[in-house]
Amino acid sequence: TAVQSNDQSPVLVDFEDGIAWVTLNRPTKRNAINPGIVYNMVRVLEELEADDRCKVLVLTGAGDAFSAGMDLREYFRGTDNDPKERIKLYRANAQWQWRQLRFYAKPTIAMVNGWCFGGAFTPLVSCDLAIAAEDAQFGLSEINWGIIPAGVVSRAVASLVREREAMYYVMTGETFDGRRAADIGLVNEAVPRERLRERTRQLAKVLMEKNPTVLRTAKIAHRMAAEMSWEQATDYLMAKVDQSTFHDPERGRDNAMKQFLDEKSFKPGLGAYQR
Ligand code: ACO
Repeated sequence: TAVQSNDQSPVLVDFEDGIAWVTLNRPTKRNAINPGIVYNMVRVLEELEADDRCKVLVLTGAGDAFSAGMDLREYFRGTDNDPKERIKLYRANAQWQWRQLRFYAKPTIAMVNGWCFGGAFTPLVSCDLAIAAEDAQFGLSEINWGIIPAGVVSRAVASLVREREAMYYVMTGETFDGRRAADIGLVNEAVPRERLRERTRQLAKVLMEKNPTVLRTAKIAHRMAAEMSWEQATDYLMAKVDQSTFHDPERGRDNAMKQFLDEKSFKPGLGAYQR
């Protein structure tokens, strides 16, 4: 299976206390996204969604890069004259970079450890949360080599970053660091490089304390509702809240109400109920 990776695999998967660390693994090519990464990521995401060892998925890169974006040699030049492979590859790339990740059944965190360019913005934006090293370097470098931020990069950036900043970086291709990425809303926070893994682990642990059925519904419902009218959203969210209560094997809502109202053993404003 794709999750049984070895050191040579384009994608590594390591399990640690409920966290699946998914590492893009072409460090000598700055983890540029080639067909090997694309087709492996589709399978890795498929398999981890049904793997109990993965409660939270962290996406990161090997070496000093998160990812230098699409591989200009293998992804672009290698398929320019092969329309059949091109369409298959581009579709598979969209599959993992946002169709799977945006609506993933487990919580996802992008851990940006270094270079992050162009096409790498799509999986970054598609993860639920993102922590960057303060000195990680980001760039919408497409303009620098004569293309526009395509795939779905422009759409992805527009969903998080204010219009002025988005347009600035689309048009200038200037790099910016992790602190700036946090300022403009592209990542949740930037931390010193030596704290990056520990902070990510700590955030994953917070997520693992929550009821997983409700967490899954909450994140997917949020993404869906964000693109609806208020009338549609209220109706849809009422259906989803009933659905998650119905599907919840823990009966979390009832237990939590009992713990708060009757036993007075926890305060919902200050933390999760005892599972
Ligand atoms: N596509 C193909 N090969 C790449 C890519 C890429 N996106 N990024 C790096 N590589 C390769 C280099 O060609 C080089 O290969 P080689 O050793 O066989 O010569 C190797 O990775 C190392 O790259 P260097 O440039 O030597 O590494 P350095 O650390 O000096 O620079 C940096 C890193 C800044 C990331 C640089 O490699 C770079 O600018 N890469 C391209 C970034 C980019 O613009 N990506 C495309 C975004 S647009 C899109 O994704 C649609």
